[in-house]
Amino acid sequence: MSNTTDWAIHTDQLTKNFGQQVAVGDLSLSVPRGSVFGFLGPNGSGKTTTIRMLLGLASASSGSITVLGHEIPQHLEQALPKVGALVEGPAFYPYLSGYKNLLRMDAADRFSDAPSRHGRVQAALARVGLTNAAEKKAGNYSLGMKQRLGLANALLKPRDLLILDEPTNGLDPQGTREVRNLIRSLAGEGITIFLSSHLLSEIEQLCSDVAVMSEGKLVAHGSLDDLRSQADTRLVVEVDDTARAITLLAAHNIVDPIVADHTITATVPPSIDQAAINQALVAQGIRVNKLVVEQPSLEDYFVGLTGEGFEVAR
Ligand SMILES: Nc1ncnc2c1ncn2[C@@H]1O[C@H](COP(=O)(O)OP(=O)(O)OP(=O)(O)O)[C@@H](O)[C@H]1O
Ligand SMILES: [Mg+2]
Repeated sequence: MSNTTDWAIHTDQLTKNFGQQVAVGDLSLSVPRGSVFGFLGPNGSGKTTTIRMLLGLASASSGSITVLGHEIPQHLEQALPKVGALVEGPAFYPYLSGYKNLLRMDAADRFSDAPSRHGRVQAALARVGLTNAAEKKAGNYSLGMKQRLGLANALLKPRDLLILDEPTNGLDPQGTREVRNLIRSLAGEGITIFLSSHLLSEIEQLCSDVAVMSEGKLVAHGSLDDLRSQADTRLVVEVDDTARAITLLAAHNIVDPIVADHTITATVPPSIDQAAINQALVAQGIRVNKLVVEQPSLEDYFVGLTGEGFEVAR
């Protein structure tokens, strides 16, 4: 696909600086239409900043954006009616009920149809499981209920694209499951869904495609299957004579080993013939105490890409 209109979201070298800090740097992203696309990255990696630019809520320092084929921010007005969004900390009137908040939100949207308003608000509340709490003041909603109300707001009208920033943030396990099911059913209707998360497990359960951010940079982009196949397969062998084993492994095109005591670890192709390697070592009189091929989890790979540690990068 070469034309930017073929993509639900397309960015080219999108950059956002806050003073000296590059919050998003040279981000080139292509989100296929009809996909459930995961935007994954640890806290502070630039997800919300990117989403705010996609929605015209923040201006880019440089680079370009198209959403549903419309240039942003130049043609925001054409794109927005077809885009539902949930962005970090949605703002509601605390003294109004959830129901009244949605009525107001819809009324403030000049593209929306007034006669159908009441029905659409009711339907959106039902869809996110807030019917019973519809008359309660939004200010008294729990975090998860506020999140649901934000989702309901995104669903007030038929959409081609939903942009959801951490949609399950603050939800209990039950609520998380419900929102996940809701996202699946929306995807089943053909709506493109772009959702951010700092949780790999969330993305794995929902998404076909993924972009991984680290410190404002894109570090991986593609289908989850592609990503899985990029995670290195490793051979781990424990032998009595590591020097001779390394020579033999090299003869089998297994190079750049890491040696610790009697254990050798090396990256190998996933198609490696474990038994043949074992046999070759033993045939040379090398004693093999252990020989395993490890397929690291996507989690290991993700941590490898984004770095580990409790401290945020900056
Ligand atoms: N208005 C702002 N002024 C200055 N710095 C900002 C501003 N907004 C965001 N940043 C910085 O940009 C970086 C990226 O923030 P962003 O909110 O996009 O991260 P995130 O990936 O959404 O993180 P989280 O998972 O915690 O929501 C952070 O270092 C943040 O401090
Ligand atoms: Mg965020």
